[in-house]
Amino acid sequence: MIIFTSLPKCPYNISQLQEAVLPIMVICLTKGAGVLPDGPLNATLGGTMVFTTTLTPPEKPFTFVEWKFGDQSIISTNTNATADYEGRVTLFISTGSLELRNLVLSDSGEYRVLIIPQGGSILEGTIRLEVYGEQIFHFSTDLVEFNSSISLKCSASGISLSFLWLNSSSEVIQSDRVQLTDGGATLTIVNVTRYDQGPYECHVFNPVNSDTSEPLTLSISYGPENVNLNVKVSKGYYLEGSNISLSCSAVSRPAAQFYWLLNGAYLNDTGPEFKLVNIQMSQSGNYSCQAFNNKTLRYETSQSSAVTVLERISGTAVTPSTNLPIEGNSVNLTCDAAAGSIFTSLWKKDDSDLILTDNMALYEENRVLSFKSLNNTDSGKYSCEISNPVSNDKAQYIMIVKYGPENVQIKGPSKIDFGKTLTLTCSAESEPSATYTWTLNGTEIYSSSVFTKVITELSDSGSYTCQAMNNIAERTSSAVHQVTVTAILGETSGCSAGCIAGIVIACLAVCAAAGGGGY
Ligand SMILES: *[C@@H]1O[C@H](CO)[C@@H](O)[C@H](O)[C@H]1NC(C)=O
Ligand SMILES: *[C@@H]1O[C@H](CO)[C@@H](O)[C@H](O)[C@H]1NC(C)=O
Ligand SMILES: *[C@@H]1O[C@H](CO)[C@@H](O)[C@H](O)[C@H]1NC(C)=O
Ligand SMILES: *[C@@H]1O[C@H](CO)[C@@H](O)[C@H](O)[C@H]1NC(C)=O
Ligand SMILES: *[C@@H]1O[C@H](CO)[C@@H](O)[C@H](O)[C@H]1NC(C)=O
Ligand SMILES: *[C@@H]1O[C@H](CO)[C@@H](O)[C@H](O)[C@H]1NC(C)=O
Ligand SMILES: *[C@@H]1O[C@H](CO)[C@@H](O)[C@H](O)[C@H]1NC(C)=O
Repeated sequence: MIIFTSLPKCPYNISQLQEAVLPIMVICLTKGAGVLPDGPLNATLGGTMVFTTTLTPPEKPFTFVEWKFGDQSIISTNTNATADYEGRVTLFISTGSLELRNLVLSDSGEYRVLIIPQGGSILEGTIRLEVYGEQIFHFSTDLVEFNSSISLKCSASGISLSFLWLNSSSEVIQSDRVQLTDGGATLTIVNVTRYDQGPYECHVFNPVNSDTSEPLTLSISYGPENVNLNVKVSKGYYLEGSNISLSCSAVSRPAAQFYWLLNGAYLNDTGPEFKLVNIQMSQSGNYSCQAFNNKTLRYETSQSSAVTVLERISGTAVTPSTNLPIEGNSVNLTCDAAAGSIFTSLWKKDDSDLILTDNMALYEENRVLSFKSLNNTDSGKYSCEISNPVSNDKAQYIMIVKYGPENVQIKGPSKIDFGKTLTLTCSAESEPSATYTWTLNGTEIYSSSVFTKVITELSDSGSYTCQAMNNIAERTSSAVHQVTVTAILGETSGCSAGCIAGIVIACLAVCAAAGGGGY
């Protein structure tokens, strides 16, 4: 918008202008008429002027007084000051004088007073006022970057005036956007930017004088831009119940107002700081902030920041698919937590990282350790650590693989003399330990691992079988051991007299039996 201010309208002619020397302003001669002295009156911009009548206060107050500027009424005894003069004028009713304050250049012109005394005839007078100075006029509405254009008008009275505009003390340079018109008096900035705020000064001069206006700074609204969401200690994952502090910033004039969004939907919160206290899993999502400039009416939204709230992992346990891990069977060990979301599972065996054999496999993101066919070497302490970015927990399971019996062995002599004690020891590899059953020639004779007997009969010879049994695995395995009883008398070395007597008695019984048997 361009505002053209009215320059002083002087009833001058060229010859008068040529005679004018100092000050540079045009002097307009006006004939004082009637109740006002001869003019013109000179005043400076921003100053005060009292238009004093030549009347002395009458005994009876005037019936009516009115002041006019050109054709426009300023104030009268019947009416208040009109809009342009509100607060700037005082009418002195006793003398009919007028005070005009805060003078502007456009106050230059002809003033007229009309006075009706009580019972008297109408009195009139006119006088000219010249206000001197330079003033930059501009329209004062808010300027918006990239949207507004503005014209600055340098207004001054005088002849052969030249104008020089300064922007922050540097001379204004014309461009597509910056135009000087009206003989340099008008500076037009098209499509203002934030850098155009000035301050601007207008320097007016002619060959004999010069003056500079007060500096004028433009208020240009811009932004918001560079809207940035900051998260203190940003990690993306938060433990349920923790507090999060978000802040938002933007380049904006005037300062932006901030709104907060979760997954693109507005929250009730506003302001540059946003706190989430005792955050719950349901508050997980993408947070962003939006900046709004209520002058430019522009919005801009920040990048979004993902917030994932996780429950603390607790109640972790390793559960086997069977309580009886038997060799050759398959078993799954499942690691799980009662609460909390699991991101990773890590298995260890006997406190070392688990080395997967062909027999093992991991399923369900490592939560299930599966054995295809158990081996007794798979026994051990299995521990599992599960974790998410905010917590972790551990559990362990001791797996004892039930196997065997295997490798059944019988230890003992294969030949034995009469009267000696036969001791046969049976062993087997088994988990749990095997139970043992002895048979001689197929007849069960004893059940325990160590079989002892004093040899008294030839029929103690034979096939001694030890059967080992794993009651859990319900498996048996056996070994056979041949024992021959030898009947050589008196050749026993290292035997005491009593011992020999015993053998003899035994021999007698055996021999008798043998004899009876047909020897
Ligand atoms: C104002 O300036 C901006 C940036 O220089 C440009 O994008 C925009 O189109 C201009 N607007 C007008 C009306 O010239
Ligand atoms: C005013 O000066 C600033 C800073 O040098 C410059 O960026 C801007 O374009 C100037 N504006 C005008 C209207 O001269
Ligand atoms: C416009 O924004 C400014 C700065 O944030 C604020 O002070 C002012 O109250 C706002 N005006 C309105 C009408 O909302
Ligand atoms: C959050 O943003 C990410 C990446 O932009 C997207 O994959 C995800 O689906 C978003 N989450 C929600 C809840 O919208
Ligand atoms: C800026 O200009 C555009 C297009 O001319 C208009 O739609 C918008 O309302 C203007 N914004 C302001 C704040 O004046
Ligand atoms: C072990 O888990 C795997 C994969 O889930 C499954 O295919 C298999 O049947 C399970 N075995 C047992 C013994 O539960
Ligand atoms: C077992 O068999 C052996 C040889 O076949 C025989 O000498 C022995 O007398 C038998 N013992 C019993 C108790 O049957």
